[in-house]
Amino acid sequence: MIDYERFARIFGVNLPKHEKAMTQDILLPSLWDDAVAAKLDEPGKLLYRSNLLGSDLRITNFGGGNTSAKVQAKDPLTGADVTVLWVKGSGGDIGSMKLDGFATLYMDKLFQLKAQYKSLDQEDAMVDALGHCIFNLNPRAPSIDTWLHGFVPHIHVDHVHSDAVIAIAASKDQIALTAQIFGDEIGYLPWQRPGIDLGIKLGKMAEENPNMVGLVLGSHGLFTWGATAKESYDQTLRIINKAAVWLDANVKRPAFGGVKNPTLPQAERAATARRLMPLIRGRISKSEMKAGHFTDAPEVLEFVNSNMLEALAPLGTSCPDHFLRTKIKPLIVPADADAATLDALIAGYRADYAAYYDRCKHADSPAMRDPNAVIYLVPGVGMLSFAKDKATARISAEFYVNAINVMRGASGVSEYQGLDTQEAFNIEYWLLEEAKLQRMPKPKSMQGRVAFITGGAGGIGSASAERLLREGCNVVLADIDQPALDEVTAGFAKRYGRDMVRGVLMNVTSEEQVIAAIDHTIGEYGGLDVLVNNAGITSAAAVEDTTLTMWNRTMDILSTGYFLVGREGYRVMKTQALGGSMIFIASKNGVAASPGASAYCTAKAAEIHLARCMALEGAPMGIRVNVVNPDAVLRGSKIWKGEWSQQRAASNKISVDELEDHYRKRSLLQRSVFPEDIAEGVYFFASDLSYKSTGNFLNVDAGNAVSFTR
Ligand SMILES: NC(=O)c1ccc[n+]([C@@H]2O[C@H](COP(=O)([O-])OP(=O)(O)OC[C@H]3O[C@@H](n4cnc5c(N)ncnc54)[C@H](O)[C@@H]3O)[C@@H](O)[C@H]2O)c1
Ligand SMILES: [Zn+2]
Repeated sequence: MIDYERFARIFGVNLPKHEKAMTQDILLPSLWDDAVAAKLDEPGKLLYRSNLLGSDLRITNFGGGNTSAKVQAKDPLTGADVTVLWVKGSGGDIGSMKLDGFATLYMDKLFQLKAQYKSLDQEDAMVDALGHCIFNLNPRAPSIDTWLHGFVPHIHVDHVHSDAVIAIAASKDQIALTAQIFGDEIGYLPWQRPGIDLGIKLGKMAEENPNMVGLVLGSHGLFTWGATAKESYDQTLRIINKAAVWLDANVKRPAFGGVKNPTLPQAERAATARRLMPLIRGRISKSEMKAGHFTDAPEVLEFVNSNMLEALAPLGTSCPDHFLRTKIKPLIVPADADAATLDALIAGYRADYAAYYDRCKHADSPAMRDPNAVIYLVPGVGMLSFAKDKATARISAEFYVNAINVMRGASGVSEYQGLDTQEAFNIEYWLLEEAKLQRMPKPKSMQGRVAFITGGAGGIGSASAERLLREGCNVVLADIDQPALDEVTAGFAKRYGRDMVRGVLMNVTSEEQVIAAIDHTIGEYGGLDVLVNNAGITSAAAVEDTTLTMWNRTMDILSTGYFLVGREGYRVMKTQALGGSMIFIASKNGVAASPGASAYCTAKAAEIHLARCMALEGAPMGIRVNVVNPDAVLRGSKIWKGEWSQQRAASNKISVDELEDHYRKRSLLQRSVFPEDIAEGVYFFASDLSYKSTGNFLNVDAGNAVSFTR
C-alpha cells in the first residue's frame, strides 16, 4: 500500500484517498548508489545515471530518450578550457549504452549555430551543421535531440519517454493536466518535431522559469534537469512517480472501459497464436522475410479484451518513438480468423496504409515502405508482432506495451489522443529518417528466416547452426542431450544475441516430442523456413551379429526420426506457403555400402531416398529438399568419441589417434573434413544460393570415388 500522507507531503499536492489497494510496484525505486557514483568522473556519472534510467521500460522504451551533461574539458587543439556537451548519440539505448554511445559537442559552437538559425526551413540543414560542433573527433553521430539538451541552462538533463508522463501528454486536456498535477515546477510545450526550433523554445522556457525542474512535451515525453547527476536522476524519478501516483489515484473509469471478451485459457491462447502466426507470416513475408513474436502479458490481454479496443487501436500510438516501431496503427485479428479472413484483413490494412501514404506524402517524400502491419491484436489471445528480425519484433511488441500503458493512463483520466496523422507521416517519411535507413548495413542473407536443427548440440549440428546464425538466421536447436544443448545454446546467445537462438529438448523418435518442438519453434519465431535433419548415432556390427534391437534403434533414430521431423516441418512450410529448404545430413554410407555397418548404411540410404520423395512432393510449393553427405568428420563429433572410433581403428588396424590422418590419406584430395565444411554445404542448400536445386546430394568428404553420384 502507498502511504498517501507521505506522498502528499513529498509532492506537495493533495491526493484523493484511493479506494483500491495500490501496490508498491507503480513506484519507481531509486537505484542510485553513492558509493558507486563516488568513484566516477562526470562522464562516468552520466553513463551510470543513463544506464539506471534505461533499466526500467516504464521510465523509457528501448532506444528511447536521451541524457546529457555539460562537462569541462581541455580543447585538444588549443589547450583552452571549453564546455563540452555529452549527449546520447543517434541510435543508442540509454539502458545498455557505453561511454562511446555519447556524442560530444562544443557548447560555444552550438550557440553559434543557434545565432544563425532564423526559420523552420533551416531545421534539416542545421542537423548537418551539427557536424561542425563535434568535440575531439568523436565519431558518434549526434541525435536530433542534441539541441533540446544543449540549450537548457542546466548542467544535467534527462529526456525520457515515461509511460505515466506520456499518458498525460497524450490526453485531450494535456495542458490542464500538466498544470494540475505538477504546478509551476513543470512547464509544457505543445507537440513539435524535435529539432533546433524546439530546442530553442525549451531553452527559453527553462531560462525564464528558474524554478522549473523540467517540462512535458505534448504527445511526446518528459524533460527534467538538475545541478548534479544524482539530482537529475532523482528529479526524473520523482516526476514520473508523481505522474503515476496521480493517474492511479484519479482514474475515472475501469481500464479501457471494462472487459468485453473473455481471456482464453493459456494453452488455447498459445495454440491460437501458433495457428495464426505462420498464416500471417506467409502473407506478409513475400518481399522481406519476417520473424514473429507472441506475448500474452497481462496488460496486453487487458487491452485486447476490452470494450475500448476497437475505438483506441485505430488512433495509433502517440509518442513518435512508439509508432516508428509499431507503424501508424495495429491490425485487429479475430482468434478464429481463417485464411480467407486473413487475406481480407491484411489486404485491407495495406490499402489503408497506401491511402495514408498518398494522402500525406510530399513532393520529395521517399517511396512507400512495406505496407504491412507490425502489430496484430487478437482478442482473447494476445499480441503478435512481425519484423525483419526477432529482436525487432520483440522490441516492437515492447513498444506497443508502452503505448497500451499510455492509452490506459490517458483514457482513465481524460480522452486519449494519437499523434496527428500528417505529423506521424512527416516523421515516418522524414528525409533524415530515410537517410538513417539508407545508412543501415545491407541485410544478411538469412535475416528473418527460421531454422530448426536436430542434433543441434552435436558437432555438425552446432557448426551448421553457427553458419546460419552468422547469416542472420534464427535457429532452434533440438537435441536429446540437455547439458550439451544448454551449453551450446548459451554460447550462441552470447555471441549472436539472446533473440537469435532457442534450445529444445526433443527425441526424434517420439512423434509427440517432435510435434511439440516444431510447435515451440512456431511460437517463438512465427514459422519455419529451414529444417536440418541431422540428429544421429552410429552402429556397427557384422550382419550376423546385428541384433534386432540394434537394427530397430538405428532405423528409429535415423530413418523414422528423419521422417517424423521432416513431415512436421513440411506441414508448417506448406501452411506458410513461403517455400522452404530441408537439408538431410546423410552419409557417404548412404550411397556406398560399407562392411560391418549394414543397419547404419541402410538407414542412411533410406534418409537419402526419403529426401528425394519429399523433394518431389514439395516442389510445387517451393519446398526444396537436398542432402549433404559427410564422411569421417572426427573433430567436434560426439559419435567419434566412443566405441565407434575404437571399432574403426581396430578394423583398420591402427590406433584411435591415427584415425584422423588415416581418413585424410584415404580421401582423394588428401584433406581432413571438419564440421565447418559440412556447415558450408548446409548453408548453400539453406540459402537462395541453391534456389534452383532440389533432390540433390552434395558429398563433403574430401573426395571418395565410391560415393560419386551416378
Ligand atoms: N561425423 C561423421 O564423420 C559423420 C559422417 C557421416 C554422417 N554423419 C552424420 O552427421 C550427423 C551428425 O553427426 P555428428 O558427427 O555431428 O555427431 P554428434 O554426435 O556430434 O551429434 C549428433 C547429435 O545428435 C543428438 N542425438 C542423438 N540421438 C538423438 C535423438 N534420438 N533425438 C535427438 N537428438 C539426438 C546427439 O545428442 C548429438 O548432439 C549424424 O546424422 C551422422 O550420422 C556424421
Ligand atoms: Zn523523445
